Amino acid sequence: MKYHIVTYGCQMNVHESEKIAGILRQSGYTEESSIEEADVIVFNTCCIRENAENHAFGNIGALKKLKRNKRGLVIAVGGCMAQEAGKAALLKEKFPFIDVMFGTHNLGELGSLIERKKAQKKALISVPEERKETEDGVEPVRTSFPNAWVNIIYGCNNFCTYCIVPYVRGRERSRKKEDVLAEVRSLVKEGYREITLLGQNVNSYRDGDVAFPELLDAVASVEGDFRVRFMTSHPKDFSPELVAVMKKHKKICKLLHLPAQSGSNRILVAMNRRYTREKYLENVALLRREIPDCELTTDLIVGFPTETEEEFEETLSLVREADFASAFTFIYSPRTGTKAAEMEGRIPDEVSKNRITRLIALVNEQTRKKSAGYVGKEIEILCEDYDEKKGLYLGRDEFGRMGYFASEKDPLGKFVTLKVDRANGISLYGIAITKEV
Ligand code: SAH
Ligand code: SF4
Ligand code: F3S
Repeated sequence: MKYHIVTYGCQMNVHESEKIAGILRQSGYTEESSIEEADVIVFNTCCIRENAENHAFGNIGALKKLKRNKRGLVIAVGGCMAQEAGKAALLKEKFPFIDVMFGTHNLGELGSLIERKKAQKKALISVPEERKETEDGVEPVRTSFPNAWVNIIYGCNNFCTYCIVPYVRGRERSRKKEDVLAEVRSLVKEGYREITLLGQNVNSYRDGDVAFPELLDAVASVEGDFRVRFMTSHPKDFSPELVAVMKKHKKICKLLHLPAQSGSNRILVAMNRRYTREKYLENVALLRREIPDCELTTDLIVGFPTETEEEFEETLSLVREADFASAFTFIYSPRTGTKAAEMEGRIPDEVSKNRITRLIALVNEQTRKKSAGYVGKEIEILCEDYDEKKGLYLGRDEFGRMGYFASEKDPLGKFVTLKVDRANGISLYGIAITKEV
């Protein structure tokens, strides 16, 4: 019995799909296969922007024929879209051939839902409203060796006015420090070389008196040859303690993903972000003073309701001033149920498209300039894959930059020092100077 999982959305969802795979294995599905060969197909959906939803709608719809022609095929839909108010019903109406629907709050029930569905004809929809405890207890089937994701906090309490996450992921729930540490220790023992701590806002982590900097300190103090990343940090919770911990440990990547969203104070208020441009830049200055060779990445939204040309230009100038190494850029997408969706002053599509094109051009220019600066230098990458087309191994440095190199041996899962001889956009090419590879 084979399974196929289709994942949309953020790292959180990628890791949750690993947990879904774990549940399917417990239920007797033994291997991952192509969509055509699978006995169960699970869609792990995202609803952060309209295009994420459209993707899922398109791909689920495309299964109508397969479902008709293949007896016993189970189609399950879960994740953030299924959890969204009214969406499960809409999905069921549009695609009556869906067998099982589950939300973000009852992922653990997927196995029993599939069992029950097999025993009866009727579709099963189970999307509970809220979840108070953490999602511990499911053993994931990890798919991204030598990297491993580790949840530290679930949910979000921030209610940025554009964002649907708090509605589909519920309130914040932190895992116990000891549980996080036990998971990290065992991953390192198994040979994982990169641990990424995950949360919608890792800086809100709290277990009794233990806040995020302390947890990070403890994780980075685990013995072994590995590095630590974390995402995402909310600028309002940025603290000198966090910087101190980053500075203290070589194992912690000197990369901070700090979503700014906008460079305009008026828009930041309308977004309910609870920091100003000045405060954001002060944090950046502190970080650069303490850790001079660190890099910053960010998320930016253009076309938020009422955003003027001048306010957009403040986002452009923030990109220059903060000197981001790269950025994820988005056109604002209204999400039903959020505050911003009710706001007046929608920005026309052509205006938003024009803004994002200019923003991407600026970000790319900065990224390229930084990459070019690496030619002739040495970087340490963690080899994570082999690119068949290029005939080269690849991995990332601590700043997330991709490095490619040739090797006769098997360097997968190893730290490799490269002497960079060429940069192409965000990719670096070099010669491995680590002896054993
Ligand atoms: N928890 C993280 C990331 C949340 S989603 C954080 O707080 O930073 C990832 C990114 O999607 C956000 O940072 C934001 O830039 C973008 N995003 C969220 N809602 C959006 C919307 N309605 N339209 C466009 N972009 C959105
Ligand atoms: Fe969404 Fe804001 Fe929470 Fe991030 S912090 S998940 S952008 S509400
Ligand atoms: Fe999408 Fe849900 Fe992540 S809405 S971005 S998959 S938390």
